[in-house]
Amino acid sequence: MQGKPFEAFLSLTSLLSCAGLLVATVSLAGPVFYPKLSDESAACNECHKQQSPAIVQQWGESKHYRGNVGCFECHASKAGEPGAYEHNGAFIHTIVTPRDCARCHEREVAETEASHHAKGAEILGSLDNTLAEVVEGNTAFFGGSALLVNGCQQCHGATVKVDAKGRPTPDTWPNTGIGRINLDGSRGSCSACHQRHTFSAAQARRPENCGKCHLGPDHPQKEIYDESKHGISFMANAGRINIDNPKWVVGEDYSVGPTCATCHLSATPTQGVTHNVGDRISWNNRPEVSIRTDLADAKLGLANPIPWEKRRSAMKDVCTSCHGPAFADSFYQQYDGLVELYNEKFAKPGKAIFEGLKKAHLADGEPFANRIDWTWYEIWHHQGRRARHGASMQGPDYTHWHGLFEVGKAFYSEFIPEAQDLVAKGIAAGGEKAKAAQEVGALIQATLESDNHKWFIGKMTPEEKARRAKQREEFAKRYVMKADAKP
Ligand code: HEC
Ligand code: HEC
Ligand code: HEC
Ligand code: HEC
Ligand code: HEC
Ligand code: HEC
Ligand code: HEC
Ligand code: HEC
Repeated sequence: MQGKPFEAFLSLTSLLSCAGLLVATVSLAGPVFYPKLSDESAACNECHKQQSPAIVQQWGESKHYRGNVGCFECHASKAGEPGAYEHNGAFIHTIVTPRDCARCHEREVAETEASHHAKGAEILGSLDNTLAEVVEGNTAFFGGSALLVNGCQQCHGATVKVDAKGRPTPDTWPNTGIGRINLDGSRGSCSACHQRHTFSAAQARRPENCGKCHLGPDHPQKEIYDESKHGISFMANAGRINIDNPKWVVGEDYSVGPTCATCHLSATPTQGVTHNVGDRISWNNRPEVSIRTDLADAKLGLANPIPWEKRRSAMKDVCTSCHGPAFADSFYQQYDGLVELYNEKFAKPGKAIFEGLKKAHLADGEPFANRIDWTWYEIWHHQGRRARHGASMQGPDYTHWHGLFEVGKAFYSEFIPEAQDLVAKGIAAGGEKAKAAQEVGALIQATLESDNHKWFIGKMTPEEKARRAKQREEFAKRYVMKADAKP
């Protein structure tokens, strides 16, 4: 930031500063470097050095310190604005929102707001939400569920409220959920990834950063990454990845291995940084049956117009910074193959049977009131997601043992028997219910007769049966010790 334009900019900001307009809401595309710290911020510092020395120290380590972006430049508010309160002679708000950051980082905020992350708090009415509010929770905490507040919303985001004094209420804050709904209408929380008050890019590039939320039984991206060659390479070479470089372009500034940010957000020689984490992914593997990302975005009302094929090319561009194009193409064929396998073999028929049971009133009541509600939920929401997520990011253990193995086990040993039980009960009830039950029974039978499942009812073709028996025999010859075998 040197030369004429910056000089001119300096005098403009000094002018604004003289007129007391340092924090005027001028919309600027890029970050603003101020020539000196404002008087307001100097006063905050003076007192907060005692009141909260750690915050002042963190700020001192940040790039904001060098740009003279002080406490007041972020926390300033106006009398009457939601969340504003008078604090030692200045009007401030506690929660700095993406709208505050947008004054200097317009592009990052616009990209975030166009992404799924900005929709993260819209979970009301989801099945998972029934878990938080009814099954696992109650309404004893400020009229809501303490679990929702401590669990879901710490990842997804709360709807912030303030008390009469303008201070955020304990049922809605502390919270840095990814899609937090803020008082000014903006979505999200930049400190979900950029820890305050250092607000560093380097810290956000590390995989642990995403791992606060992207882990666990229903979306173990962090665990998958850790066991993948990429995670292994990151751990072996963390010191050689130049994570502190201001410019961090894969293939130019590092090549030892990618972090989550490398693939989903960071720059390549031909792409800039994006804060829309959906820009490079082609499948949405969260629903029962995977769908294309452009379809998922349209359903949520997101304004991201990028077709899934283009998003896939954008990701391949990342891969080919380190791999050859044929390698990347073949990976995508393997991944698509797994998604199709799960979709066709388990997700579509399972969904049809489950919905059939519901329509025929064979499993009535609130969600999770029936055993089969849990069985089906775990198949798609936990095990089925794990299989797909494992394949998408090279974690074979998740694809198989934590994934399709568990899907298969639950499908054949729980889901199908439970569904057949409910059908039998419906038939025994007689009348209209019996008729509806028979239809579902026929659907289950047709599913079991299909190529994917006929092995289960002993209808594998004789050739296939013979081939498999021969393989087993050969395997036994190689590996299985007979009890009387001498070493
Ligand atoms: C004279 C001392 C003093 C000055 C000047 C001062 N603060 Fe504070 N600040 C405090 C104290 C004490 C607290 C804790 C009590 C409270 O929350 O009011 C606090 C709390 C805060 C909080 C946290 C509120 C919460 O809900 O947890 C924020 C944010 C804050 N100050 C920002 C600022 C900013 C921005 C400035 C400058 C415009 C500033 N302070 C100036 C003393 C000061
Ligand atoms: C770059 C913008 C920015 C600057 C500069 C900044 N803050 Fe903050 N501050 C934030 C954000 C963002 C939050 C997090 C609010 C949330 O999402 O929960 C926050 C939260 C806080 C909190 C409440 C959270 C806590 O841990 O108690 C305090 C207190 C606070 N800031 C004080 C300060 C002080 C003092 C300074 C100056 C030394 C300062 N801030 C400078 C953006 C900023
Ligand atoms: C008044 C302007 C201003 C505001 C408001 C502001 N920033 Fe910045 N920000 C800057 C400047 C200046 C830099 C330094 C840019 C540079 O060094 O190239 C910067 C840099 C950054 C960086 C890059 C740090 C790095 O390690 O490279 C991040 C991340 C960041 N800001 C996040 C935020 C967030 C989040 C908010 C809101 C909570 C915010 N900023 C509010 C001016 C601002
Ligand atoms: C540890 C953080 C975390 C907790 C706790 C958590 N979630 Fe999630 N949730 C996520 C992440 C991350 C995703 C996206 C996963 C992916 O992309 O594969 C997600 C996805 C979802 C989705 C699907 C959204 C979509 O676009 O398809 C819903 C609905 C949901 N969660 C609701 C809830 C509810 C309700 C709770 C509490 C009962 C909860 N979650 C608890 C992190 C969390
Ligand atoms: C999902 C995590 C995540 C969230 C949420 C997030 N960022 Fe970032 N941000 C990153 C990562 C990762 C980088 C580093 C990109 C790189 O340079 O490789 C970054 C870099 C930046 C930079 C440095 C300039 C650049 O583009 O490289 C700025 C400024 C910034 N973020 C601002 C923001 C603001 C403002 C918000 C809130 C609207 C925000 N970020 C929310 C992950 C996040
Ligand atoms: C504070 C929690 C949180 C953090 C931190 C977080 N995410 Fe997310 N992420 C979510 C939630 C929740 C969703 C699902 C949002 C929805 O669709 O409702 C999600 C969705 C996504 C998606 C799917 C986007 C789409 O368009 O379908 C990707 C990819 C993603 N996150 C990547 C990342 C990466 C990479 C990081 C770290 C740089 C990160 N996330 C950090 C909570 C988080
Ligand atoms: C080698 C690059 C790479 C790395 C490293 C990587 N991912 Fe991914 N990620 C992908 C690819 C490829 C997909 C699938 C894209 C598609 O569907 O086209 C994906 C998909 C996702 C999704 C979408 C899941 C869904 O439900 O649809 C999320 C969320 C995600 N990754 C988060 C992460 C997180 C968090 C990390 C780090 C712990 C990470 N990724 C590391 C390449 C990567
Ligand atoms: C920053 C460099 C880098 C990027 C970017 C990258 N990879 Fe890799 N990848 C590696 C390294 C290093 C290995 C380990 C090579 C080895 O084991 O010899 C690897 C290994 C792999 C493997 C082999 C896995 C195994 O278990 O043998 C696959 C598949 C793979 N990458 C796919 C991808 C895909 C797909 C992308 C893009 C979504 C991608 N990679 C992006 C560096 C990268």
